[in-house]
Amino acid sequence: MSRSTVTREAVVGIGVLGVTFAAGVYIGKRYFMYRRKKSQKMFEGADDPRRTYLLRLSLREHPSAKKLCQYLLRTASPDVSSDAAQLLANLAKLINSKKMLEMGCSYGYNPLVLALVLPSDGKLIAHVRETEDISQAREFWREVWHQLQAAVDNKIQVEVKSEEQTLDGLLSAGEVGTFDLIFINMSGLTNCRKCYEKCLRLLKSRGVLAIDGVLCNGAVLKKNSMTDQLQSIQQMNEAILRDARVFLSILPLADGLMLCFKL
Ligand SMILES: *[C@@H]1O[C@H](CO)[C@@H](O)[C@H](O)[C@H]1NC(C)=O
Repeated sequence: MSRSTVTREAVVGIGVLGVTFAAGVYIGKRYFMYRRKKSQKMFEGADDPRRTYLLRLSLREHPSAKKLCQYLLRTASPDVSSDAAQLLANLAKLINSKKMLEMGCSYGYNPLVLALVLPSDGKLIAHVRETEDISQAREFWREVWHQLQAAVDNKIQVEVKSEEQTLDGLLSAGEVGTFDLIFINMSGLTNCRKCYEKCLRLLKSRGVLAIDGVLCNGAVLKKNSMTDQLQSIQQMNEAILRDARVFLSILPLADGLMLCFKL
């Protein structure tokens, strides 16, 4: 059939169909965008009354943890996600965790909350990142440390070193597969993938590897302004998605809390 033999009615019919289809796609898109927007609107920020309500009904903050939090509010910009810390402590209790590692803690809220659920023979290694403000961190640990340690019967061992030194030290000391819970603060790291690999080696089978900072405050979504750090996080996130050695969940807690459960 040549072009010229197509009847006028057919052309109009095809035109109407096309317009209807396009309108359908447009409306459908709008509808789904609307639906998605609505369902993504979980919380309107930290002061959202629904969030306050959930925290009020779920947080069981130990008096020592509360005290530390209040101290940090007065003296430093606290980087505390009590709900995420409690979730990890709950998981730790569930698996009877005896040996934990925390990489990149700044002020000790997480290690404290975790160490509080350790049994009497338990141990937590808290790695404090070596940064330019390390003297400040050292001072903090010196000042506040004895109080924290007393609250947890000296179960926390503090390491102020680079990530590499700490992880390589543990690996060469024969600690492969001995930790049942490892927490990594990925914020600011540029070798996330390596850090993940080493921590996974240190983790026991059926252990929990928790990674905070996988969202970088949303910066992982911006394709144009990629820093080394953002690229590093993105590559790690993608690699973990395909990593058959772990089960995986990511929760919208803290700065994106990834939970990997080692097989
Ligand atoms: C995570 O690391 C960043 C960068 O070193 C630090 O500012 C932040 O306080 C850390 N977060 C926690 C919960 O320790």
